[in-house]
Amino acid sequence: MNWNPDEHYKSQTVAVDYDASRFSSIPGRVFNSLEKRTVAKCFSRLSKGSTIADAPCGTGRLAGALLEAGYRVHGFDISEAMLSVARQRLVSYAETFTCEVADMKKDPPNSPICDGALCARVLMHFPLDGQIEFLTAVARLSRSIVVINQSLDSGYQRFRRRLKRLMGHQPPANYPISNGDIRLLLEKSGLREVERHRLLPLISEAVYIVAEKV
Ligand SMILES: C[S@@+](CC[C@H](N)C(=O)[O-])C[C@H]1O[C@@H](n2cnc3c(N)ncnc32)[C@H](O)[C@@H]1O
Repeated sequence: MNWNPDEHYKSQTVAVDYDASRFSSIPGRVFNSLEKRTVAKCFSRLSKGSTIADAPCGTGRLAGALLEAGYRVHGFDISEAMLSVARQRLVSYAETFTCEVADMKKDPPNSPICDGALCARVLMHFPLDGQIEFLTAVARLSRSIVVINQSLDSGYQRFRRRLKRLMGHQPPANYPISNGDIRLLLEKSGLREVERHRLLPLISEAVYIVAEKV
């Protein structure tokens, strides 16, 4: 598959359709709401008013949940089109939401340093080396915790994937990750796992990990 996550989301059509295409069905809405709650819970150890770097911010879907929970958010994304949707969506948070275009792999931002950082729904698009590169850049933006999301690769999830492929469904992630590689990813990015949350583990591969800087 020659799908390129660094380029795909730069399209205005893709950006405008992003939320509706993933989260408007009933399962999509349930998952979206569960994911937002999980993200807010992962950051509950940071006091309200803290600033969180959201990289990649995309259309501001999860940034919105953090702003609603009382945090300030600075978003980074390679796609101006995605950030433009985020700015429109979060216009009522003009005081607490800012964002900028940045390529986290080739040209990672040096500042601002935030109290925490979120890295959701992107690592599974890259091979492990690319994940380490991306997460290392995100970790540099945080003074304390980094919350990441990945697709877990386990025996059960591989079985589910095979079934889904037989039924003609596309796999949701190109590079799901084993527990061993999660350890390697965190270690090479200067992080250590402190807490883990699974989202509907019987029907979803999604895992959220709260990590702290070593
Ligand atoms: C599936 S979206 C996830 C957005 C958001 N975190 C969410 O959960 O809704 C993936 C995002 O990663 C961004 N992205 C891809 N490669 C990137 C890179 N090298 N640097 C920064 N952002 C990148 C894309 O533009 C896209 O907005």
